[in-house]
Amino acid sequence: MPAAQPRPQASDGLKGTGPSSFLEMWRQLGSIGRHPGSGGYRRFAWTGADADCRDWFREQAEARGLVLELDRNGNQWAWLGDPSAGDAVVTGSHLDSVPDGGAFDGPLGVVSSFAALDELRGRGARFTKPLAVVNFGDEEGARFGLACVGSRLAAGHLTVEQAHRLTDAGGITLPQAMEAAGYDPDTIGPDPERLARIGAFVELHVEQGRALDLTGDPVGVAGAIWPHGRWRFDFRGEANHAGTTRLADRRDPMLSYAETVLAARREAQLAGAVATFGKISVEPNGVNAIPSLVRGWLDSRAADQAALDTVVHGIEKAAREYADAHGVHLDVVRESFTPVVEFEHALRDEIVRLLGKEDSADLRVPVLGTGAGHDAGILSASVPTAMLFVRNPTGVSHSPAEHAAEDDCVAGVTALADVLEGLACK
Ligand code: GLV
Ligand code: MN
Ligand code: MN
Repeated sequence: MPAAQPRPQASDGLKGTGPSSFLEMWRQLGSIGRHPGSGGYRRFAWTGADADCRDWFREQAEARGLVLELDRNGNQWAWLGDPSAGDAVVTGSHLDSVPDGGAFDGPLGVVSSFAALDELRGRGARFTKPLAVVNFGDEEGARFGLACVGSRLAAGHLTVEQAHRLTDAGGITLPQAMEAAGYDPDTIGPDPERLARIGAFVELHVEQGRALDLTGDPVGVAGAIWPHGRWRFDFRGEANHAGTTRLADRRDPMLSYAETVLAARREAQLAGAVATFGKISVEPNGVNAIPSLVRGWLDSRAADQAALDTVVHGIEKAAREYADAHGVHLDVVRESFTPVVEFEHALRDEIVRLLGKEDSADLRVPVLGTGAGHDAGILSASVPTAMLFVRNPTGVSHSPAEHAAEDDCVAGVTALADVLEGLACK
């Protein structure tokens, strides 16, 4: 039996009537792409679940009289006011998921954005700038291996040629997947004019660690995102019979891979960083065959570039030694990399001021660094960008157990509404 659909419970701040209430939005979205066995979400780019999320976004935009725009990279924008006026305030996040992801990573930001807009309308706020809610496509990179494809393309951090080469596990390319989903892949590419309309982008996100739980605050503001990347390690040995091949005669890539996993842990520990082999593919993948190929993907992140370089070089060096020792050939390919992101101080300080009360310690707003990547990080090179984090009591994320409490979701919506009011209604 899967666990019940994770959702905040109704409280005064989340209740409401009609399709615009937070809980109603949460309920509708919560059934999309949820695997009945694991209880986790499988909302991969350009699949049926992704299409259903996009339909949901369109319906939310229409229900609020917002103008829906689909950009050249498949990102959805819901506009209040004239986007061409410029200096727009944009909020939002993503709706796709990792394999068996939680309900909150991404959707909390999108649902809270619509709810914050409802809240501002309820307050009778007068907007002096255009406002948009955005749903960035393929943030997690679960299908094509590269995170933040929609925002990377828009910001020009991923070239059209590189995007055309992205391929999923079944050999389907990104353009083929887009076309099959009814989108025109020939339009993808940098979108500087669209980004130039934006005066500030604020992404609300569930926290993916326990910093807020430890400080006892429901909402925090992002300071920086650690540099991070993904590396593919291909260990090539020799397929052979599991029962008849003497141990001494084997060229078993699984051994070098296994030793490399342990080295990753060791190197990360030494550098105060993190390193994870979370995905592996094995050929021929037979229980009674020594593998010919073990392909493992390393995800590594650190507080600064020097530490990350040290970790990744250390892991690669160890992997080469293990490969040599087992007669295995190793290729290492860096598949993606995102440098450190320091969010713009002026916008961050303004948000802290909008959320805090200088004379009250209770209302202080912690500024947090994070090891998780976000579209906000990608956009930060082109646009003044900030993030709000909502407390995650266990810190668990990228798992069906990911959670945020009802009152903290309310606090997140209220904080986002306060920020948007301060930025778009002044
Ligand atoms: C995205 O969630 C990432 O940090 O991998
Ligand atoms: Mn994520
Ligand atoms: Mn996310």
